[in-house]
Amino acid sequence: MRAVLCTHLGPPETLEIGEMDDPIPGDGEVVVDVTAAALNFMDTLIIEGRYQVKPELPFSPGAEFAGTVSAIGNGVNGLAVGDRVLGNPGYGACREKVLSPVQALVHVPASIPDEKAAGLSVTYGTAIHALKDRAQLQPGEKVAILGASGGAGIAAVEIARIMGAHVIACVSSPEKAAFCRERGAHETLIYAEADLKTTLKQAGGASGIDVIYDAIGGPYSEPALRALAWKGRFLVIGFAAGDIPTIPLNLLLLKGCDIRGVFFARFAQEEPEAHRANLRQLLQWCESGALKPHVDAVYALDETADAISALAERRVKGKVVVKP
Ligand SMILES: NC(=O)c1ccc[n+]([C@@H]2O[C@H](COP(=O)([O-])OP(=O)(O)OC[C@H]3O[C@@H](n4cnc5c(N)ncnc54)[C@H](OP(=O)(O)O)[C@@H]3O)[C@@H](O)[C@H]2O)c1
Repeated sequence: MRAVLCTHLGPPETLEIGEMDDPIPGDGEVVVDVTAAALNFMDTLIIEGRYQVKPELPFSPGAEFAGTVSAIGNGVNGLAVGDRVLGNPGYGACREKVLSPVQALVHVPASIPDEKAAGLSVTYGTAIHALKDRAQLQPGEKVAILGASGGAGIAAVEIARIMGAHVIACVSSPEKAAFCRERGAHETLIYAEADLKTTLKQAGGASGIDVIYDAIGGPYSEPALRALAWKGRFLVIGFAAGDIPTIPLNLLLLKGCDIRGVFFARFAQEEPEAHRANLRQLLQWCESGALKPHVDAVYALDETADAISALAERRVKGKVVVKP
């Protein structure tokens, strides 16, 4: 099989396309022919050795995929050759076949195309875990999303809207603001055109913003936190702007508020049943038409480096997908 390989750490152009032996399923394992692999911001970091997970070399990027079961090992129940599934191994999806434990896969209904199913696990999985499990977001609450046009951000815009919240999307350009409004944001804020704290305080009205979903960190986190309501919840999602901010603890005291960490991969590992229930909810929303995951671009397997460069250079709205 063909695979995108990171043989030494470096920028996207150092990735290679290699030939590997097809995987053979062991007990409880399944081989999936990958029909679409989705990329995430973490792929820009993992190939350079700058992500918290550091796989042994060589490895393939791609944290999530959709595909068709092509072989099953002994002791596999609930899946058969030909079934459509999705999975999120964390890395290794940008190749023609992946080997997976059966319990890590979820059935994909016929009505959901491969390109959309591939990118449902990580960013949408993060957003539903963050807003539902960590923030306990309630209908009518105000949620501000920083980095709203990226993968994790736009997933939060769409899911917060489904959950009945009032959504304020914070982005870097008018084009990205328009994209967020198309995907369900009630209000948008462009960093360069407004003071973040003042504008979010105005948007929060008398009570303030109930939930902040922060996917960018850096100089944006503290001003956003200062607009949080009494007993508000601040969700730490990521640091796409580069720096990990330091927050004065007196702000938490004054607001009686919480800063809540969100770590999708660890949640999926520690609470697999809750994670699978979230994935099933996402698939159900897709089937009913409530959720329409946006795929920005589809690349061929040997264009994976270009797809990762597009993410690193902030040229992506929503998800990018690679099709082997
Ligand atoms: N906690 C978890 O479990 C979890 C799960 C998934 C992702 N994450 C993290 O969440 C972050 C976003 O991931 P993603 O997959 O959504 O990435 P993405 O699709 O590349 O989106 C990144 C977003 O960050 C914004 N951004 C980048 N640099 C910026 C800067 N200097 N100032 C302001 N905005 C900036 C971009 O905004 P513009 O488009 O407006 O330029 C873009 O919307 C990453 O740090 C990732 O590691 C965490």
